[in-house]
Amino acid sequence: MLKKIAFFFMFCIIILAACKFPTQSKSKYNPPADHKINKSDARHKSGLYSPLSNCVSCHGDNLKGGSVGVSCFECHNKKW
Ligand code: HEC
Ligand code: HEC
Repeated sequence: MLKKIAFFFMFCIIILAACKFPTQSKSKYNPPADHKINKSDARHKSGLYSPLSNCVSCHGDNLKGGSVGVSCFECHNKKW
C-alpha cells in the first residue's frame, strides 16, 4: 500500500515537472506577452527584423536600452 502511494506521488511530480519546466524561460528578463518570437529563450517581439521602426519606442532610439533597460547589443553585435 505504502509503495503504491509513493509511486502515485512520484508520478504526479514527474507530470508536474514535465508540464512546468519547458514554459519557464532561462532568460533573466520578463518581457511583455507580445514578445512571442522565441530565439533560444530570448523572447522577441514580432517585427524584430525592423527594430528601428518597431522596437525603439521601448528599447531606446539607438536600441541600447531605453525605458525598459534591455539593450539589443547585450546579446547581439550591431547587425541592423
Ligand atoms: C511596449 C514596449 C516594448 C516594445 C515596443 C518592445 N519591447 Fe522588448 N521588452 C519590453 C520589456 C518591458 C521587456 C522586459 C524588460 C525587463 O524584464 O527588464 C522587454 C524585453 C525584451 C527582450 C529580452 C527578452 C528575454 O526573454 O530575454 C527582447 C529580446 C526584446 N524585448 C526584443 C524586442 C524586439 C525585437 C522588439 C521590436 C520588434 C521589442 N522588444 C519591442 C518592452 C518592449
Ligand atoms: C537576452 C538576449 C537578447 C536580447 C536582449 C536581444 N536578442 Fe535578438 N536574439 C537573441 C538570440 C539568442 C537570438 C538567436 C540567435 C541568433 O540568431 O543570433 C536572437 C535573434 C534575433 C534576430 C534574428 C536573427 C537572425 O539572423 O535570424 C533578430 C532580428 C533579433 N534577434 C533582433 C533583436 C533586437 C532588435 C533586439 C533589441 C530590441 C534584440 N534582438 C535583443 C538574443 C537576444
